[in-house]
Amino acid sequence: MLNGPWDNKEVKILVTGASGTLGSALCEILKEKYQVLPLKRADLELSRSAEIIPVVTSLKPEIIIHTAAITDVDSCEENPGEAYTVNWLATMFLSRAAAELDATLLYISTDYVFDGERGNYMEHDPVNPIQVYGKSKLYGEIAVKENAEKHYIIRTSWVYGPGGRNFLSRLPGFPAGSELKVVADQTNKPTYSLDLAAMISRFIDLNPPWGIYHVTGSGETTPYGFASLVNELFGKEFELRPVSRKEFKRPARRPVNTTLSNFALERGLGLKMPDWQDGLRRFAEWWKKSEK
Ligand SMILES: NC(=O)c1ccc[n+]([C@@H]2O[C@H](COP(=O)([O-])OP(=O)(O)OC[C@H]3O[C@@H](n4cnc5c(N)ncnc54)[C@H](OP(=O)(O)O)[C@@H]3O)[C@@H](O)[C@H]2O)c1
Repeated sequence: MLNGPWDNKEVKILVTGASGTLGSALCEILKEKYQVLPLKRADLELSRSAEIIPVVTSLKPEIIIHTAAITDVDSCEENPGEAYTVNWLATMFLSRAAAELDATLLYISTDYVFDGERGNYMEHDPVNPIQVYGKSKLYGEIAVKENAEKHYIIRTSWVYGPGGRNFLSRLPGFPAGSELKVVADQTNKPTYSLDLAAMISRFIDLNPPWGIYHVTGSGETTPYGFASLVNELFGKEFELRPVSRKEFKRPARRPVNTTLSNFALERGLGLKMPDWQDGLRRFAEWWKKSEK
């Protein structure tokens, strides 16, 4: 079995995007075992590239987990300059900082590097992003590979959880009985932020070979399927109307099926992510507790 070289409490882990859905979950989980340096926008504005290397190298982390990104796919399409600056260029400078520190870099990437024409993508299947967001994240992957020798690229999909801002995370907060049009012809694997954070923590402990790993919730569904289970688990009584992607006019194209196969994680490391329904059940439990 693989084992990390870490004497945990001595290890400093810097987490970018510490206020985000995944970043906040990571800080929560990792602080049990490591010294966590949560980096928020107020600490480092990633569009100011020149500040990245001096700020990050001054903090001297052994591990950097780069979760920060512009994740609003439509906003990326409408403001490509901003998307490429934050998702690509900032990653390039951060990768150089990691190399200068001889630190390990974990870059969180996305299923949207694929075009979604077939689904069940393996780690080294050919990429072909169809919108600015996917391209900007792919350029980030390339920058990581070019600059930071000690790197992991972790691709995930449909991340939701406490404090999340996307549709899946906010859905339980919509008023009970709302009438909602929900896309029923896009398939993916929802990933509970705390499950992903726990897997990343496990991953760091194991110190596996450098490379690309797909890490998503197990099983797949559509936004309609996800909303139907939210209805059941959160007792929302939404009136759900299934619609097609074409009926939903949005600036950025959405891929039909970008499900990822967690091949390297499962076959290489013998690890398995929980089912997406199980993650959603635990999100519902967290939600009910936080309402009290
Ligand atoms: N959400 C998904 O469905 C999904 C799917 C696949 C992959 N991913 C990837 O997973 C990672 C984490 O996603 P998430 O869902 O946790 O994202 P999120 O909730 O939208 O959080 C993004 C984080 O990035 C920070 N950020 C954005 N622009 C910044 C800037 N210019 N300077 C500094 N910080 C900036 C945000 O700070 P503020 O709080 O100040 O805005 C926030 O902390 C991302 O790299 C994303 O590409 C996400």
